Amino acid sequence: MDHEIIKLSPGDFEKCGNIWDMERQSGLAKQFYGELTSGGRITYVYKRGGEFIGEISLVFDMNDPDYTISGRRVYVSHLIVKPGERRKGIGKALVEFAAGKAKEMGYTEMSIGVDLDNYPALKLYAGSGFDRIVFIGEDSQGKYVKLLKEVR
Ligand SMILES: CC(C)(COP(=O)(O)OP(=O)(O)OC[C@H]1O[C@@H](n2cnc3c(N)ncnc32)[C@H](O)[C@@H]1OP(=O)(O)O)[C@@H](O)C(=O)NCCC(=O)NCCS
Repeated sequence: MDHEIIKLSPGDFEKCGNIWDMERQSGLAKQFYGELTSGGRITYVYKRGGEFIGEISLVFDMNDPDYTISGRRVYVSHLIVKPGERRKGIGKALVEFAAGKAKEMGYTEMSIGVDLDNYPALKLYAGSGFDRIVFIGEDSQGKYVKLLKEVR
């Protein structure tokens, strides 16, 4: 079936509940919705036949220069593909799409933060051009790395 990647409008935000458990993660859902409506976040959704399958977001101010620098570096947030739809190239397609949009907006770098025990995500990012390590550290969730990709 045909698919498309669309920009999420706040009115459709709840449809992302098909991708991740928004009730269980209600705090995150509230934060993302606020950022979406204030313009601090843009979310792109991989959609097939009306069904939301995966999403990725760009965030413009993380209050951390490793992640965001005005007009230059934008942060990739909440890349997720619905379980059952993984390993089909959707995650990679979302990263490529977001990179194209970041470039269109004039950004030259995209950043991400990923847990070091998240092998699928690390492998996807490494294979998608996130080849610069900015920081390796640890927080309450465990060890993680901040990576950069050039989008010029
Ligand atoms: C990480 C995630 C978004 C990947 O999405 P996906 O659609 O399965 O990724 P793709 O099919 O585009 O995979 C691209 C490449 O990443 C790597 N990869 C993805 N999942 C993998 C896995 N489970 N094991 C090994 N490599 C994997 C592979 O190199 C893959 O290419 P290949 O299939 O040709 O070998 C998905 O696993 C997910 O939603 N995870 C939970 C949320 C999450 O951890 N998000 C990242 C937060 S930083």
